[in-house]
Amino acid sequence: MDKFLIKGPSTLKGEVLISGSKNAALPILASTLLFDKPVVIKNLPRVRDINTMLNLLKSLGSKIEFFDNRKKVRISKSKKPKYFASYSLLKTMRAGILVLGPLVSKCQKSITSFPGGCVLNGNSGRPINLHLNALEKIGMKYEIKKGYIYARSKGNLKGKSLKFPSISVGATQHLIMSSVLSDGKATTLKNCAIEPEVLDLTNFLKNAGANIKWIGKRTCQIIGVNSLNEISYSVMGDRIETGTFCVAATLTKGNLLIKGFDPKLIKTELDLLKKTGATIRLFKDQIHIKGPKKIKKISHIKTKEYGGFPTDCQPQFMVLMCKANGKSEITENIFKSRFMHAMELQRLGAKISIKNSKATIEGNTNFIGAEVMSSDLRASAALILAAIAAKGTSIVSRVYHCDRGYENIEKKLKKVGAKIRRVN
Ligand code: EPZ
Repeated sequence: MDKFLIKGPSTLKGEVLISGSKNAALPILASTLLFDKPVVIKNLPRVRDINTMLNLLKSLGSKIEFFDNRKKVRISKSKKPKYFASYSLLKTMRAGILVLGPLVSKCQKSITSFPGGCVLNGNSGRPINLHLNALEKIGMKYEIKKGYIYARSKGNLKGKSLKFPSISVGATQHLIMSSVLSDGKATTLKNCAIEPEVLDLTNFLKNAGANIKWIGKRTCQIIGVNSLNEISYSVMGDRIETGTFCVAATLTKGNLLIKGFDPKLIKTELDLLKKTGATIRLFKDQIHIKGPKKIKKISHIKTKEYGGFPTDCQPQFMVLMCKANGKSEITENIFKSRFMHAMELQRLGAKISIKNSKATIEGNTNFIGAEVMSSDLRASAALILAAIAAKGTSIVSRVYHCDRGYENIEKKLKKVGAKIRRVN
């Protein structure tokens, strides 16, 4: 198992090129099951979850050709599509569940394993009830046996109006893609997630001829079409990788030019970084960010659906709040117990207490290098950031979590001055 050996403290300076978004690419890849004609997807990040999704598509009969150092793929449908999505492929990646709806939509049947993925919610797990209930409303029947969802539909899925009882990124994406080829009247989805990655999916599908309209802030209307057209599409830049590097610059008194991402999409995060004293200049698809001499505290961060502060940047901001000049709080509203990184940050000297979904962070921490262990993808990013800011040597283990979602993180960090090495 690989580990990162990190010597700190370092000040990060230079240019970083942001990779394509994992969380936008995964649903786009799953929705290629809806196509009869070939699809070209560009700007794919070379990360483990994308490989897993491509292997899943292969196991379902798609033919995959790679170009441009695996950043571009051409996916063509096989003559004999399969409809069995195995546990071995879904156990490490929650987004694998997104093949269920497209398979039922195209083949009228599917046997799909329950998915795995990052453990973010303690004993509450990561349920898929919102996906299954909504798919049932548009005509999917299913039963659960031995960890698998046996699903089918009588003919095409059927347009219907439904409201999600709570907002879910994955369930919104799943229902949009499953409704694109539906029969009958329009599907109207209310209380949808409107994360940029959801909009990237609708953009992709619309460019391929799907009839999708946003008719309210959180209401999406889809009118089924008979088929989708051949398309070449470039995935958006990674919002969370961009946020991670913005925190890195702020944390280390750094000076980074971050390229390949539209700054308008992370206004909430950038406004908070300005409050800490960072100097930020915005350009089209670029952010220039300089860290302050002293990091001012942010009193309270509350994670929220898009528009609000993203849960996927919460661990990285927690590191910044540890270094800031005073006490602050984080309330985690999306995954109530997503605080596994807090325990490990304490090994580096942080003072954090957790009560239910609230973390209180003491501030003024001088991190000291130590051995720490990643528990999930963004936790691993947080530990790497803290180790770069820490005095002395740290070893961050279980970096396979990081490899699921950050492309070449150690190369990108090394290029801007971090002393980081992969060892095993
Ligand atoms: C997506 O996960 C992202 N994953 C996550 O990113 C991200 O943390 C999350 O959205 C929230 O922004 C991908 O895009 C692949 P949800 P998703 O459904 O779709 C509850 C990362 O680090 N819920 O919006 O699984 C759920 O438990 C990852 O890149 C149900 O109760 O998240 C959570 O409390 C990790 N029932 C809330 O809704 C359901 O059926 C929001 O989850 C589905 C979700």
